[in-house]
Formats: sequence, structure tokens, C-alpha cells
Amino acid sequence: MNQTTYIQQLPKVELHLHIEGSLEPEMMFALARRNKISLPFTSTEEVKSAYEFNDLQSFLDIYYQGANVLTHEIDFYDLTWAYLLRCQQDNVLHTEIFFDPQTHTERGIAFDTVINGIHKALEDGREKLGITSCIIMCFLRHLDEESAFLTLEQALPHKDKIIGVGLDSSELGHPPEKFARVFTKAHQEGFLAVAHAGEEGPVSNIYDSLELLKVHRIDHGVRCADDSSLVAQLAQSRMPLTVCPLSNTKLKVFAQMRDHNLVELLRQGLCVTINSDDPAYFGGYMTDNFLAIAQSHDVTNEELAQFTRNAIEASFISEEEKTQLMEKLNVFTG
Ligand code: ADE
Ligand code: ZN
Repeated sequence: MNQTTYIQQLPKVELHLHIEGSLEPEMMFALARRNKISLPFTSTEEVKSAYEFNDLQSFLDIYYQGANVLTHEIDFYDLTWAYLLRCQQDNVLHTEIFFDPQTHTERGIAFDTVINGIHKALEDGREKLGITSCIIMCFLRHLDEESAFLTLEQALPHKDKIIGVGLDSSELGHPPEKFARVFTKAHQEGFLAVAHAGEEGPVSNIYDSLELLKVHRIDHGVRCADDSSLVAQLAQSRMPLTVCPLSNTKLKVFAQMRDHNLVELLRQGLCVTINSDDPAYFGGYMTDNFLAIAQSHDVTNEELAQFTRNAIEASFISEEEKTQLMEKLNVFTG
């Protein structure tokens, strides 16, 4: 089997996917029409040509605008279902997805509308596609602490559907300490925790996410390479990094894919995983991200399988479910 076929067939686990970032231009137009919302674009081609980003902020501006078409529970259902069908194509067996409640509640969409639509699709995905999943709710770091506390409050009646909290949006200027008290409350309420850190922000954001937010995983974290003692600490503790190769090159965290450091970090013993982040905006889902790395790095099939092993290890499922996924992976690797 050649490496492309190996990658297509490799069982995968996704741990870093913003459901709003799976909104394809075609669905954006369909929902705009259905909900009578006007878009600043006249065609899907025009939308796609606007997806040229200089940095994280230039992406976020267009990404939040796109999310405006999501209005009713069925919209969130359809969005999530379309993503699950892509998971099926890419052999993703388990996925832990992010949503950004404030992107919707800030424009008057009820928290319940959002979570119920996403959750129903994930339930159907489990039943009809055999894909297991968890939901992580992210706080937008460009908004204030009070808004994050309010969002946490809104999530409490949905504890059965939400496994953890995360932190995303503009990293520069919004350090983890801004949300330390919210994360403390989230931990008290029984939520697990993750945070975007060291994507385009400094290593101090990784240290502070670990110490102040007590996260179980770091989202991105690729800037850890700036600090060798941090790399050693991450390797020793097996702290997972949910890395997103196509995102990192699209947002110019790395100039070219061959400059990406995730294979090197893997070889240094870090629990590195491959993920798609916002696939509709960055040019690819899980298989595309694996292929992009394999095409630009001299990586073995065993190393590619190790990314899935790491993702299983880093996932928020039970030990029993982890064992089941490992068994499926072992059947594939032989
Ligand atoms: N929200 C969606 N994608 C993101 C990313 N890559 N970084 C920070 N916030 C995000
Ligand atoms: Zn992300």
C-alpha cells in the first residue's frame, strides 16, 4: 500500500475542530438564502478567493462574519451533520469538537438553540455512522471575563452534553490569566479544560495555560519549540498538543509546510496529534492534513499511526473506549 492510501485508510481521532470552521461556502450560501441573511459575497468563488489570510486576526474577522448565517437549531444540526459525513470519508472514528457559544449568543441566538442542534447531530452520528464524539465549549478570549462567566452559567443545564471548556480567538493581547477565575469555576463544576496557546502567542501562554488554567491539553502549542526546557517538560508529562498543519501554514505560523515542527516534536517524545481546526477555511479535513505533512516531511507509516495513538491517549473518553479505539488501530497497523 502506498503512503497516500495508508493515510486515507488510517483510523483517525480529531481533537481540534471548531464546528463553525467547518461551514463550507456552499452551505454558507444555502443558509443565507434559507434564513434571508445577506452576505457580502455574490458567489462561492468570491468567498473562496477571500480566504487569503496574513495572520490569525485576518482569519477570525471573516470567520465570525460567516457564522452569522447560523440561526436556527436545524442550521447547527446541518452544519454538524455535514462535518460528520466528512469524518466518515476520512475514517475519523472519534471527534471532540469545539463550539463558540458567544459567537451566537452575542447576536441574539439562544445558547440552547446552538447546543441542541450540535448535540442532536452528534447523537445521530453515533447511531447512524458509528462515530463517537464529545463537545467542548470555548470562551472567546477577545471578550471579557464577565461574558465568559455568563456563558459558563448558560452551560450548566447542559453539563450532560459538554465535557469541557476551552479558550480560543485572538491570542495576542488576551493571555490565559484573563480567564483564570472562569477556569477555576469550570473545574469546580466538573468540566475538563483545554486552551489555545502558543499558536501565534508566546511560550508564556503555554506555561500559564498549564499553571493557571490547569488544562489537560494545549491547542496548537507549536511555539513551545522556542523554549527547550518547556519542550522537555511537555515530553516528560505527555501533555498533548493538538496541532493543525494546514491552519498553521494558512495563518502564517509557519511560512511553508516543510518548516512545520510537528514531526520533530513527535520524535522528541511529545504527545503530538494532527487536526483540522477550521477545515472549510484552511483547505482540508483530517486526511488532507495528514497528507500535507507526509508530502513535506520524511515520515514513516508507523509515525503517522503514532499521531492517532497519541490522539486516543489524549482524548476525553473512558479507558475502555480508548482500548477499543487502540484495538481498531492495531487491526489496521497489523
Ligand atoms: N477559532 C477558530 N480557529 C481558531 C484558531 N486557529 N485560533 C484561535 N481561535 C480560533
Ligand atoms: Zn483552533
